[in-house]
Amino acid sequence: MPSTRPRVLLTRRIPSSSFELIEHRCEVEVYDEPGALPPDQLKARLADKDGLISVVTDKVTAEVLDAAPKLKVVANIAVGYDNIDVAAAKARGIVVTNTPDVLTESVAELTWGLIFAITRRLVEGDRLVRRGAWKGWALDFMLASALGGKQLGIIGRGRIGQSVAAKAEAFGMHAVFAARRSGPRGPDEVSFDELLVGSDVISIHAPMTPANRHLIDRKALARMKRTAFLINTARGPIVDEEGLAWALKERLIAGAALDVYEREPEVTAALLSLENVVLVPHLGSATRETRTAMADLAVRNAIAVLEGQPAFTPL
Ligand code: GLV
Repeated sequence: MPSTRPRVLLTRRIPSSSFELIEHRCEVEVYDEPGALPPDQLKARLADKDGLISVVTDKVTAEVLDAAPKLKVVANIAVGYDNIDVAAAKARGIVVTNTPDVLTESVAELTWGLIFAITRRLVEGDRLVRRGAWKGWALDFMLASALGGKQLGIIGRGRIGQSVAAKAEAFGMHAVFAARRSGPRGPDEVSFDELLVGSDVISIHAPMTPANRHLIDRKALARMKRTAFLINTARGPIVDEEGLAWALKERLIAGAALDVYEREPEVTAALLSLENVVLVPHLGSATRETRTAMADLAVRNAIAVLEGQPAFTPL
């Protein structure tokens, strides 16, 4: 007799505790090959599925949703959801969920790691030591930028932006947020232009929306202090990557540290040869603890919807 349990596609293997939870309640199909699930396979595998547990590399477009007539829930293992056409899903009565809160601290920690890495030239120094170019301690060798007394400008006042700001005081930095385009302005908020012009470190924690595409373009980069640093752990397309390479090469800004890119896993070639940029491969939430908590929340969201209950973290 065919099973009446809901069918769920997992586009990636997840930690065993979360896997056991979903396997106990659903018929689970897992894509377990190296690399992302190819788009044509996503469509084909969704034809008979009631639920999808997706990751950021899965593009869940209207076309994909049209190929999934039984789909009731898309549970994304990420806080960002620009990989999903949420409006198209809602129009088809499909619930979409993300994984907020559980990754806030991991992303904030990575952000601070990147702030230290670029302002104290850690990766550049590591490269220098490895190639045998270190000649010994010297008073004026590899001088960097201090953080104490400087301004940290944060774009995006969500959970992650606020967590990054909360840690600033420990390093003697003064955090300000970019004010929303309309509405009253808080005491720690400045206009977007004031933030660009007055900050020593600028960190992006905004979602990827059409309005935020290339928010940091050549014009914005040229407004920044020549001594300032740009950090992006949000989404690549918020920064014009070619423009950033130009600004770093021309020393219009002092440095940048990126966790996310416009066309992942591709990185604008001009960035690769620059010393004043730190490049890490989309690791914001990549701790064992956090990835386990994210998978667990996505699984619980999918099960809730498939069992007719409200999702824990719906969009
Ligand atoms: C990762 O990029 C996420 O949005 O969780």
